[in-house]
Amino acid sequence: MERSTEKPREERESRDFSVSEGRLQLRSVTSSDLEDILAIEKASFAYPWSPRFFLQELRVPCARSLLAMIEGKPVGYVIYWLLPSEIDIHNLAVDPAHRRQGIGRSLLLAVIDEAKHEGRSRITLEVRRSNEAAQRLYQSVGFVSQGIRRGYYSDDGEDAVIMALEIRR
Ligand SMILES: CC(C)(COP(=O)(O)OP(=O)(O)OC[C@H]1O[C@@H](n2cnc3c(N)ncnc32)[C@H](O)[C@@H]1OP(=O)(O)O)[C@@H](O)C(=O)NCCC(=O)NCCS
Repeated sequence: MERSTEKPREERESRDFSVSEGRLQLRSVTSSDLEDILAIEKASFAYPWSPRFFLQELRVPCARSLLAMIEGKPVGYVIYWLLPSEIDIHNLAVDPAHRRQGIGRSLLLAVIDEAKHEGRSRITLEVRRSNEAAQRLYQSVGFVSQGIRRGYYSDDGEDAVIMALEIRR
């Protein structure tokens, strides 16, 4: 049998990026990160995910996550599903005190790397129609709008913009 040259998953998921605040470390979210994540989540969304919902989401077999840390302090996260042909991003947030430093972009670039590494051809997500900051972030790494899902958000009935990035290899 030929030996695989692929790195083990844990090694691939601990990565360093440079952002304007310094060195950003990325690794998978664990249940002990929940408190830090919830604080960022509550500061970021009018309708935050509950602790129960986070735990359920993280237990889904195809769920993947990345926690961004500066000097050991959690500053952002992304949660996504690695599906057979694509990646779906379900949640992404950066601590308000650390925004506009390139952290959101670094998280997305890491997900794009994973899509390439895992041979997925597309990344998709839904974003609130009113969320211009997030739409600009997604556009900045190449996502394009694919249409509108009317009344997609059950909490307040807001429309979602469907965005997608086709992965070139
Ligand atoms: C959207 C969000 C994740 C962006 O994170 P961030 O770390 O501040 O983003 P970055 O610093 O990596 O920004 C990268 C680019 O995105 C765009 N961008 C990010 N925030 C923006 C804003 N408030 N207004 C306009 N453009 C913005 C810019 O093009 C920016 O590049 P620049 O700073 O060189 O101009 C953050 O604002 C957030 O957590 N918002 C609340 C939660 C949320 O909306 N999540 C997305 C759900 S779909």
